Amino acid sequence: MNEIEEKIKTLRDELEQHNYNYYVLSNSAISDYDFDIKLKELQALEEAHPEFADPASPTQRVGSDISREFVQIEHKYPMLSLGNTYSEEEVRDFYDRTMRSLHEPFEIVCELKFDGTSISLLYEHGRLVRAITRGDGTRGDDVTANVKTIRSIPLKLRGSGYPDEFEIRGEILLPWAEFDRLNKEREEQEEPLFANPRNAASGTLKQQNPAIVASRKLDAYFYYLLGENLPAQNHYDNLDYARSWGFKAPDVMRKCHNLEEIFDYLSYWNVERKNLPVATDGVVLKVNSLLQQKNLGFTAKSPRWAIAYKFRAEQAATRLNSVSFQVGRTGAVTPVANLEPVLLSGTTVKRASLHNADIIEGLDLYTGDTVYVEKGGEIIPKIVGVDKDARSMMMGDKVSFIKKCPECGTPLIRPQGEAAHYCPNESGCPPQIKGRIEHFVTRRAMDINIGPETVEDLYEAGYIRDSADLYLLTVADLLRLERWAEKSARNLMDSLEQSKTVPFERVLYALGIRYAGETVAKRLAFAFQNIANLKQATLETLTDVDEIGGRIAQSILDYFSNEKNQAITARLEEYGLQMSMNKTILANRSEKLKDLTIVISGTFLKHSRDEYKAMIEQHGGKNSGSVSGKTDYILAGENMGPAKLEKAAKLGVKIINEEEFLNMLSE
Ligand code: IVH
Repeated sequence: MNEIEEKIKTLRDELEQHNYNYYVLSNSAISDYDFDIKLKELQALEEAHPEFADPASPTQRVGSDISREFVQIEHKYPMLSLGNTYSEEEVRDFYDRTMRSLHEPFEIVCELKFDGTSISLLYEHGRLVRAITRGDGTRGDDVTANVKTIRSIPLKLRGSGYPDEFEIRGEILLPWAEFDRLNKEREEQEEPLFANPRNAASGTLKQQNPAIVASRKLDAYFYYLLGENLPAQNHYDNLDYARSWGFKAPDVMRKCHNLEEIFDYLSYWNVERKNLPVATDGVVLKVNSLLQQKNLGFTAKSPRWAIAYKFRAEQAATRLNSVSFQVGRTGAVTPVANLEPVLLSGTTVKRASLHNADIIEGLDLYTGDTVYVEKGGEIIPKIVGVDKDARSMMMGDKVSFIKKCPECGTPLIRPQGEAAHYCPNESGCPPQIKGRIEHFVTRRAMDINIGPETVEDLYEAGYIRDSADLYLLTVADLLRLERWAEKSARNLMDSLEQSKTVPFERVLYALGIRYAGETVAKRLAFAFQNIANLKQATLETLTDVDEIGGRIAQSILDYFSNEKNQAITARLEEYGLQMSMNKTILANRSEKLKDLTIVISGTFLKHSRDEYKAMIEQHGGKNSGSVSGKTDYILAGENMGPAKLEKAAKLGVKIINEEEFLNMLSE
């Protein structure tokens, strides 16, 4: 076994053990974050070495949408998927096959294929009792609390004639308008954007806080009724009934009696779907009669009585003018294709992502090539192919991944098992320097009132080379730059002055040490109390701190052993930033919650969640995101998720309210 194979095997065994601990024993020995890091590491290795693929690898579970936080429930009827096709030929085959199998007249119902995340709802006596995601098709997550926030889903049915017990299946969707609004908001808050409404919908449904789900205006369309005593013997009428009970069932269904009618429907909706408020990616064709459906039956994976015809993502052919390479704040290098502008799905496309060296190699690109670009519901268009027949004598060079950083000339590295290339020149590469300063000034770090453009201007003018340089700026410096006036310059001075009161844990976070996010920074600040102690820390004293593993500890050691970083932190201290824990916080520190793990759930009246989190840490407790066998208490506010409640009950975890928690601290 070679080294990589060995590494893959170790990771697989380790992750499977963690899965077993978590799902079977309800006793997780690893944080979700560390679990995800390991899983990503394995994914990267498997991607780079497909020869070691294994269908039983823990990465294969990721295809299901089961999350670690929800209670899993078995589906009464498995949630199957549909056979997919992009070709009219195969639609014809489906039709002919159906005709041959049935030997009698039949109707095909055409309806739209909604592009969201599927959901199964159980109704008993006219009330919604449970909502389960698809999961792996056999078991899914209980997301009832979240689904209840979707206003278009009836909690109590209208009308009459519904069976005592039935399931209805449909698609949860984030309408385009809401998707745009959400991404704009995320951009402002420097959070990663959702690639498409489908990801946004499933991401939202997996939120642990139903209040957040409620704030995003999800919608749901229903297309499949299941149960013993359905009102009609055909699909079309059943959906009509469902509509009368208050469900949003697509009203653009059509009963077709021949292939011509089917193809009419396909071509009409291929164009018209762009005017719908939600994303669709095809048409579903279903045999209407339930008896005929039963006779046709199922294959192992999908029904024989239905098929999905998928719309092809719109493509355009254009010229590849050049490829440029962008260096991000972490040093990762991204190749970008610069294209001859072309109109695609209503917008002009000039650039497309090329992802990484392997993708470029796979496409076998030359500058001057005619390439096909596609925008499949994603924001960033991608190059999906090359028209090799269009090549001429006038072609440019073969596109290959650069060897040196385009910004600073340092030879690039590609860490083993990773698809990305990095520039290792952390302290001398401009975009990395600017990126670190941009992070330093963000709201949750030092909260200094400038944005990326100002950082860029100050850098270009030669005023700043690291975050400490910000504190040497003068009003006179700023007035020498374009767009600065006395007032804005004074505002920045005030903001810099104000930042000197920002507490130590946020200063630590602002330094941008790799893997030291907000939580890690807080833990380190409490454990070491000041920067001098932290600089003296060893691998052992660091890993002694709760939740600090070897990887984080090593990163801290690396940071402080770098002379440039030592100089920056020394200067920041000299300029008056908080380099030790606030005395009153320290004085109020206690060990009242020592060794207790507390999960916060719901919304509160007296303090914010962040404040409760801080209190738990201040008193020696540990705040954790998910309920497990290790949880001692759940601090529960309003609207605590029923999934958490159920899990808490199962594990016998004690639930306390705000009053009780505050009493524990004042005792
Ligand atoms: S019928 C047994 N109808 O597409 C067949 N599915 O791969 C049940 N979908 O998981 C599915 N729109 O999430 C059906 N009008 C529609 C649909 C639809 C979207 C999704 C659904 C399913 C997937 C099929």
